[in-house]
Amino acid sequence: MKRVAVVGAQWGDEGKGKVVNYLADGFDWIVRFAGGANAGHTIYVGDRKYVNHLLPCIVPGGRGRGFLGAGMVLDLEQLANELTSLAQDFPGIGTQFAVDLEASVVLPWHKQEDVILEGMRAEPIGTTGRGIGPAYTDKASREGIKLCHLFDERMLAERLENTWNLKQNLYQGRLTMSPSEVVSTLIQLRDRIMQLGVEFTSAVDMAEVFHGTSVLFEGAQGVLLDPDFGTFPFVTSGSCMAHGVSSVGFSTFELDDVAGVLKAYTTRVGAGPFPTEEDSDVTRDIRERGREYGATTGRPRRVGWLDLPALRYAVVRSGLTSFIITKADVLNGLNCIKVCTGYRVAGNVREIPSTSHDFFVAEPVYEELPGWPSTEHVNFLKYMTFIEEQVHVPITHISYGPKTDEMETKGSLIMGI
Ligand code: GDP
Ligand code: IMO
Ligand code: MG
Repeated sequence: MKRVAVVGAQWGDEGKGKVVNYLADGFDWIVRFAGGANAGHTIYVGDRKYVNHLLPCIVPGGRGRGFLGAGMVLDLEQLANELTSLAQDFPGIGTQFAVDLEASVVLPWHKQEDVILEGMRAEPIGTTGRGIGPAYTDKASREGIKLCHLFDERMLAERLENTWNLKQNLYQGRLTMSPSEVVSTLIQLRDRIMQLGVEFTSAVDMAEVFHGTSVLFEGAQGVLLDPDFGTFPFVTSGSCMAHGVSSVGFSTFELDDVAGVLKAYTTRVGAGPFPTEEDSDVTRDIRERGREYGATTGRPRRVGWLDLPALRYAVVRSGLTSFIITKADVLNGLNCIKVCTGYRVAGNVREIPSTSHDFFVAEPVYEELPGWPSTEHVNFLKYMTFIEEQVHVPITHISYGPKTDEMETKGSLIMGI
């Protein structure tokens, strides 16, 4: 049984949604295992574009079903809206999804807290405002609400009352919805999601199913936004690593492949270190051609060159076994492509940062490679070989456009050159 994890190898928005959607038909289950509606995963069905924030990037009407795992934080209003809008084009699509009752709930308060905290930070992180940090904080501090609590209304009301008292003390009465309003909102949303056909279950009850079928794991964000290993504190709060597959009872040893999705250049949304960032006519042009605007917030993405030390770091930290490269078509027509091959830290050039702090002080060392007119040109092949030799991870697939079928294996690209 095939088990593959797809994770972002940079700071998110590498094209994970497109890659998962392309691979999805070869799998029985497509599992999102972390993060929440901070993610924005773009897919195409034919010519029509969809952005999934919580739903795994299944093929609507296809063979694979989607599972929302225990490591996720779920904004139920967002989930209901996402399902409702998808169901307009694909009636009954809700039945293609199941959700783990162990997943955490993003409360309306969490979104307010997110905004308040950002406003109080000396250096704001530039969060998406989707309540992600506060929801994970409540999980870690054990104040949070899980989906299973929505089926025990007395316990739900008691827990929310207690959490409300704690929070109103902390936030000096600034949160607006009362606990009873939150209870009734959550129950209504629970019922709406059930009416849309979504199965509420658990990875325990589904253990036999998962272990007897093929599973594709869809990571959110990217390794450099991971709270343990990313550019802390400018990170998200959910795991961005393949080890999140444990949320449906797998160990990473059971994975056949941990595929890192790698954009041919680098982008980042929000604040934080970005050694290869460049603000020039060339990178502004890349932003426009690559439509580098956040799929969740619409913010312009910061743009820079490919960063090999950061990639090596991502490989070591998350055990990537292959790469899928996306958006090289955006660089078509450039005469010269800069690639960062090392970080100068305290006077020494390093191939790989040892800690997340190195990202804050690193000066990038660049090499320049010849550009390519199209991704079928030999110079693009040389670019990929350069990456593989520098990072020691093979590139298996090339994505050369946003549409699902704009993808080929490296082998078939070589045959065509
Ligand atoms: P994700 O968060 O990793 O799923 O990525 P996003 O969906 O946030 O951002 C990737 C953007 O690039 C989306 O607009 C995709 O439609 C688009 N995209 C994905 N792969 C390619 C590609 O190979 N070439 C081009 N030009 N666009 C792509
Ligand atoms: P996908 O899955 C890019 C960034 C935010 C901010 C930081 C913390 O589409 O690749 P949060 O709201 O999570 O507390 O914000 O993380 N961020 C992302 N950047 N892609 C994402 O997801 C992101 N999810 C969060 O911009 O800098
Ligand atoms: Mg995205």
